[in-house]
Amino acid sequence: MSHAATPRKILITSALPYANGPIHLGHMVEYIQTDIWARFQRLRGHSCIFAWADDAHGTPIMLRAQQESIEPQQLIDNMKAEHETDFNDFLISYDNFHTTHSEENKHFAEQIYLAAKANGNITTKVVKQSYDPEANMFLPDRFVKGDCPKCGANDQYGDNCESCGATYSTTELNNPYSVVSGATPIEKDSEHYFFKVSDFAEFLKGWVNGSHEGNRTVQKEIANKMNEWLDGGLNDWDISRDAPYWGFKIPDTEDKYFYVWLDAPIGYIASFKDYCNKNPDINFDDYWAAGAEEKTELYHFIGKDIAYFHTLFWPAVLKSANFRLPTAVFCHGFLNVNGQKMSKSRGTFITARVFLDHLPAEPLRYYYAAKLSNTVDDIDLNLEDFQQRINSDLVGKVVNIASRCAGFISKKFDGKLSDSLADETLYQEFISASDSIADAYESRRYSKAMREIMALADLANQYVDEKQPWVLAKDETTLPEVQAICSQGLNMFRALITYLKPVLPELAEKSEAFLNAGELQWDSVAAPLLGTDINKFKPLMTRIEEDKVNAMLEANKVLLTEAATLQSKTATSKNTSNQKSDDTQLAQDPISPTIEYDDFAKIDLRVVKIIKAEHVEGADKLLQLTLALGEDTENGEEQRNVFAGIKSAYDPKELEGKMTVMVANLAPRKMRFGMSEGMVLAAGPGGEDLFVLTPDDGALAGMRVK
Ligand code: MSP
Ligand code: ZN
Repeated sequence: MSHAATPRKILITSALPYANGPIHLGHMVEYIQTDIWARFQRLRGHSCIFAWADDAHGTPIMLRAQQESIEPQQLIDNMKAEHETDFNDFLISYDNFHTTHSEENKHFAEQIYLAAKANGNITTKVVKQSYDPEANMFLPDRFVKGDCPKCGANDQYGDNCESCGATYSTTELNNPYSVVSGATPIEKDSEHYFFKVSDFAEFLKGWVNGSHEGNRTVQKEIANKMNEWLDGGLNDWDISRDAPYWGFKIPDTEDKYFYVWLDAPIGYIASFKDYCNKNPDINFDDYWAAGAEEKTELYHFIGKDIAYFHTLFWPAVLKSANFRLPTAVFCHGFLNVNGQKMSKSRGTFITARVFLDHLPAEPLRYYYAAKLSNTVDDIDLNLEDFQQRINSDLVGKVVNIASRCAGFISKKFDGKLSDSLADETLYQEFISASDSIADAYESRRYSKAMREIMALADLANQYVDEKQPWVLAKDETTLPEVQAICSQGLNMFRALITYLKPVLPELAEKSEAFLNAGELQWDSVAAPLLGTDINKFKPLMTRIEEDKVNAMLEANKVLLTEAATLQSKTATSKNTSNQKSDDTQLAQDPISPTIEYDDFAKIDLRVVKIIKAEHVEGADKLLQLTLALGEDTENGEEQRNVFAGIKSAYDPKELEGKMTVMVANLAPRKMRFGMSEGMVLAAGPGGEDLFVLTPDDGALAGMRVK
């Protein structure tokens, strides 16, 4: 697309990160991709508003807040602050970051639902679903675990087996249990609300295969997938969840809530509305009312795992409620680290914060740019390659040109650039490259843009190598040539920085200060700096040392180990199916990292006597135990109240008087039935086969185990 004469009005979004976990380097692929595009558009003189939010609803957020004994509101507020700090530090130039748990979003979710209902696109059906009779709640698939019906592997999720890869429904699991309470789930009926996607089948066929100014609405690969689904027939989309649920209540119902994926994309609209409230000169309807397609462009940047939601449900919902449609949806692939899926156990599940604690943001921005294309192919962050790439491209090639030329201009020519270029033809190549580099940015072929820019950087370095200004500077008679050569060098540097500005905004800012001629715009390259004064050169970027990368990885491993000990049971793995369920918010892969001896040494294990064991009203796995920690404490015999999931193995009466081993320094934890002050350890595979010590070992009472 050429550099349009009239500025375009563009609204872009990134997918809303879940508000129950930290931002990681996988997320950053998307957020950096979006940001580079936004900065590029603005550099070209267009208006590009980047509005998004945290995705703050759903079961995992509700349960995590419960686990931490805080209100969901508190949890999502904390997360939002953390997320925004990460984004700012990664130089993400968004205009507005809102939350889906907002007044604006409630308003639009209700408006859209009521419009869809009035248009006949909502229906209800009774659905049978797993229900936790202890926690009194319906369970999303990923909150039911059990033995795989195919291979028998233990502890598999309700939808697929990580051991053999089988997919099945929750009801097929053997020995199923609820991840929330441990109870055996039952089947229960409930009325659900559905959005009739099939009403929009014909419309979607047109939309998914459509285009705008020659560009596809969705990429070919995605369109093919969507066409398969469209041809296979569309199911109604379940948009309701039963209480207890953390979200917005559906109008005119008692206890039904909007499923998180209904109000999440509406969060795009709500965030923009919030932005309009703060910026009265922006007209909301120009961007979102039906027909806005003629005035403004709307693009969603997303990962391939959530294409289904954005290219089928979302346009259908917008159509139903009479809103504008996205101009296009831009889908990217997934991030691998060192050739493999990001993994907690390998320590490559790197959080944004840990990265920033050890390394600057710009190298990662550049590395991702050098890898990103407009396809849905996965990209790999190879940490060795990362380090080398930055050192050779940015430090060795780009910044090097300025540092080779600046000194001579400052010392020998009082900081003044020459009045004409030494090699006009060569500089012309830098100007001519503008369109092709711009096209590459526009079409999200950032790796192509980076290749072209680095090819120019090679030309600039060859030029300085050949001219050898350091030799000419030694001789009074050839000294005047040095000014022209170095001015040529600095103008080529300036062109490179202009083209890199969407990717490296801080480097650009420092370079602008050094070049002393105002802010660079895309067109600045056409007019070289001649006869002006530059400022003293200060180092613009430093090499990445291997020990920094290693320290970052080490710190990340420590963090993961800490998180793993806190999390244990609730970690679930990222759903790979197309229809992502709300519980995939817990994301990521199972954790069983090894611990160091020091970690083990922190655990205070004691042999204790069970002096009382009782049933717990309403719990079918738990027993309430009163434990005596022996008489060797200063205050006489210390007692602890502990809830233990060993009801299946022991009758309470049988347990009284027996010995067990407990973790005595576990932080007390508030459970639904009361405070649990420690944890008892029993041996055995579980179920009925759980063993505690016999009373004969009574002499051990109070003994520390280690
Ligand atoms: N909350 C939903 C999106 C709602 S949009 C209306 C969600 N959140 S997420 O936190 O799981 O992911 C946010 C974005 O980050 C998604 O586009 C997802 O594809 C992207 N990524 C998450 N992990 C990723 C990688 N490992 N690699 C690349 N992108 C990844 O989905
Ligand atoms: Zn299996």
